[in-house]
Amino acid sequence: MRIGDNHHRHTILIADDEEEIRNIIVSILKQDGYHFLTAAGAEEALLLLDIHIPCLVLTDVAMPGMNGFELCRRIRENHKTAHVPVAVISGKTDDEDYEVGVHAGADDYIKKPFDRAELRLRVRNLILLHESHRRHQMLFDNTSQGIIALSIETRKPVMVNKTICRMLGYSAPEMMDLSIFDLHPKEFADETERGISAGRLGETRLLSNIPFKKKSGDLLYVDMSTFPMSVDDIVCAVAFVTDVTERRHMEEELEDDKQRLQWMEAELLHAQKMEAVGRLASGIAHEINTPTQFVGDNTRFMKDAFSDISSVLNHYEKLLKAVQQGRDTGELTALCEKAMVDADIEYIMEEIPKAADQALEGVERIASIVRAMKEFAHPGGSEKVYADLNKLIETTVTVSRNEWKYAAEMKLDLDVSIPQVPCLPGEINQVLLNLIVNAAHAVSDASTKRGDGKGAITVSTSQVDSAVEIRIADTGTGIPEEIRDKVMEPFFTTKEVGRGTGQGLAIAHSVIVDKHDGSLFFETELGKGTTFVIQLPVCREESIQCEVMP
Ligand SMILES: Nc1ncnc2c1ncn2[C@@H]1O[C@H](COP(=O)(O)OP(=O)(O)OP(=O)(O)O)[C@@H](O)[C@H]1O
Ligand SMILES: [Mg+2]
Repeated sequence: MRIGDNHHRHTILIADDEEEIRNIIVSILKQDGYHFLTAAGAEEALLLLDIHIPCLVLTDVAMPGMNGFELCRRIRENHKTAHVPVAVISGKTDDEDYEVGVHAGADDYIKKPFDRAELRLRVRNLILLHESHRRHQMLFDNTSQGIIALSIETRKPVMVNKTICRMLGYSAPEMMDLSIFDLHPKEFADETERGISAGRLGETRLLSNIPFKKKSGDLLYVDMSTFPMSVDDIVCAVAFVTDVTERRHMEEELEDDKQRLQWMEAELLHAQKMEAVGRLASGIAHEINTPTQFVGDNTRFMKDAFSDISSVLNHYEKLLKAVQQGRDTGELTALCEKAMVDADIEYIMEEIPKAADQALEGVERIASIVRAMKEFAHPGGSEKVYADLNKLIETTVTVSRNEWKYAAEMKLDLDVSIPQVPCLPGEINQVLLNLIVNAAHAVSDASTKRGDGKGAITVSTSQVDSAVEIRIADTGTGIPEEIRDKVMEPFFTTKEVGRGTGQGLAIAHSVIVDKHDGSLFFETELGKGTTFVIQLPVCREESIQCEVMP
């Protein structure tokens, strides 16, 4: 036994009982740079194969003890050596040995005496073939994608790589015993059947999120591409499989996070609205107080007037009775005249209708504030409805009157011809309030700085192309350049605690841009004022389905 350099990749094992032949073979092949293991028989060759896997076995057929065919069979049976090419060298001149050789799993059959050049060429080709096979096998087994070839006839795997076995938790032989229906969940059988039919038709398909059943019973989700191919003459559908279970979990988690975020956003919006409603409540109480006062004053006047009129009527009743009974009426007439002068009846008759009108006006004013407050505080649904933006503006201006009236004159320049737009009215009200309160603060700050009187806030509407535009212009401080790109960030504020928390514009941006596909921007000049512009797209009938606001 002689062991050559067994670290070399191209080591050839030569088994022959005749030393001379072994030497001849070595001498022929040595020039091609191979290394050699030599054995004087099949048994010795098997021992060598236990310690070193060569890239080729050249074996004589007729050897004492185990012959070359048996050696070949043993090499094929052992999974460690099954892939090693074997060439049998036979001294027989007929083809009898050839048949036996093929049956035993030999890759080549070389007749003695051999031609030197032919032997070199055959050995070289066998080694190249082996190398190429090894490379393909390595790629096949080590790709990150699972590969499975499925017989279209039997619906059983005929070829699987190590990756798909690892993915599903089966060994390769276990996989080979399964049918494709064992590998997918039951409810997926129809889809599996369709996949196989497509394979039969020779179609290439890309499939996403396909469930596989692992040996453990857990599900594995994969993306796969399938295409038809024949493997060892068996028509197969071959699938390249990528595990996307992790991605799916991440997508699910992302979806959960998104929903949580949406929920938190809704909560924040609601909290800010409730805070605004609370803040507005004291202003509204004030707003209601004034008309309540003059409704009271006028009603009291009418009550006093009624009592004066009753006293005059009393005298007239007595005069009427005297006239009916034919008595002297002189004194009674004088009393009537006096009572009328005392009650100032002329004035009363003139003022009562005015007082009644004023009381009714006061009541109407209170009713409209209450109505506006009710509309403003209405939680609103989550579906968009067609709404009249002018009306929303009027409502918000009414409920926020106490916030702006000391700082600014409010001017409404509303275009009555603008179309209704699909929106969430409650949320648009909130945005309008945030912008009006900001404008009022800016105007008030500016007049404090300049030491002059009230400023102005102008709210206007118009249609611009396929959007309705709302402009809220103030004559306030303007926004300094260095904070212009920060004002819409959540919690950015320049106001002292209690006056602002920096959420107003962030909420406005989220409502207008994210929820309504609109735009929100501002034009500003320091010391002159700021105009915030909201643009909301007008609904195209065919693209958005909206309810009509009741
Ligand atoms: N019309 C305006 N004129 C001048 N500065 C403005 C105007 N609107 C907003 N700003 C500036 O942008 C900042 C952020 O406004 P935002 O409405 O988001 O928060 P806030 O008004 O400070 O607090 P909150 O609205 O939560 O009560 C304000 O603090 C202010 O400095
Ligand atoms: Mg604000």
